[in-house]
Amino acid sequence: MTIGHRVALAAMVILPAACGRAQWAQSMLDTRGPAAARLADLWWLMFWVTIVGAAATIAFLLYAVFGRRREELQRSVEGKDRRIVIAAGAIFPAVVILGFAAATFRVGGEVARPPSEPVLTIEVVGHQFWWEVRYPEHGIVTANELHVPTGQPVTVRVTSADVIHSFWVPNLAGKLDMLPGKWHEMWLQADEPGTYRGPCAEFCGLQHALMALEVFALPQAEFEAWLERERRPHAPPEDPLLARGWEVYREAQCDQCHAIRGLAQPTQTGDVGPDLTHLASRRMLAAATFENNRGNLAGWLLDPQLLKPGARMPKSILEPEALHALVAFLESLE
Ligand code: CUA
Repeated sequence: MTIGHRVALAAMVILPAACGRAQWAQSMLDTRGPAAARLADLWWLMFWVTIVGAAATIAFLLYAVFGRRREELQRSVEGKDRRIVIAAGAIFPAVVILGFAAATFRVGGEVARPPSEPVLTIEVVGHQFWWEVRYPEHGIVTANELHVPTGQPVTVRVTSADVIHSFWVPNLAGKLDMLPGKWHEMWLQADEPGTYRGPCAEFCGLQHALMALEVFALPQAEFEAWLERERRPHAPPEDPLLARGWEVYREAQCDQCHAIRGLAQPTQTGDVGPDLTHLASRRMLAAATFENNRGNLAGWLLDPQLLKPGARMPKSILEPEALHALVAFLESLE
């Protein structure tokens, strides 16, 4: 690693924390929620016990190889050393495995129940290769971002529209498989405000690795402001450039797959794309793959297959004027 790399890496870690809200590194051991904390305890228990077991095994092995002469070793297997073999080779592993099983059941029971009544239900539907996110109590549909109030449990219900995906936000809670035709339920709670990344945790096709989401844990007042803004539908734009963009949106048939509340509902059912009602307020594009800025958005519209091969979005062939208007229109969807 060169000095430049190190500086860039340090900047990546320090800068997001410096500009306002912390962006936590994705890790199941850097826990920021009660469920993840219990799971990490279990992980550390297993880590230390297996480290001790492995060290003891290696010590016995080294002793057998270097500590004794061959005839001595053969004699001793028939003698009292046999008891050591039975104790260390059969009883100790059995006790460890049963102990792990008991600890796992215990933690499983503890994380099954939230510490208090969940304040909100969020539905997350896995798609190849993005996340549909709904707030049924508030009539909100968005994509690839969950917003939650800090310090309170929320219920997350998951399913899939196509293949099996898995919902996992390692800093906050355990994994939950998303199966087509079935709903599974869990809860999560973020103890600190910040942004938490969640990867898809079940191989689901070509872009499994670029299927991620972000959880934004907000203080209560900010969360309510977010709900308020997210509930707002749009009206047809009056500004000529935006009106032209809205026209291009329909000409290019974006409305076949993408909804904009107040303006367009997808004309097809089933295999839809992300809801775009508040696209401009999202931090990332294409399931936490690219930063949401003008260049990435324009590139994504023109050739999604170049940026994320296997994504379900087709190319658009757009004149520069039409592209400019469409991008301006999409950037106005705040
Ligand atoms: Cu979705 Cu892996």
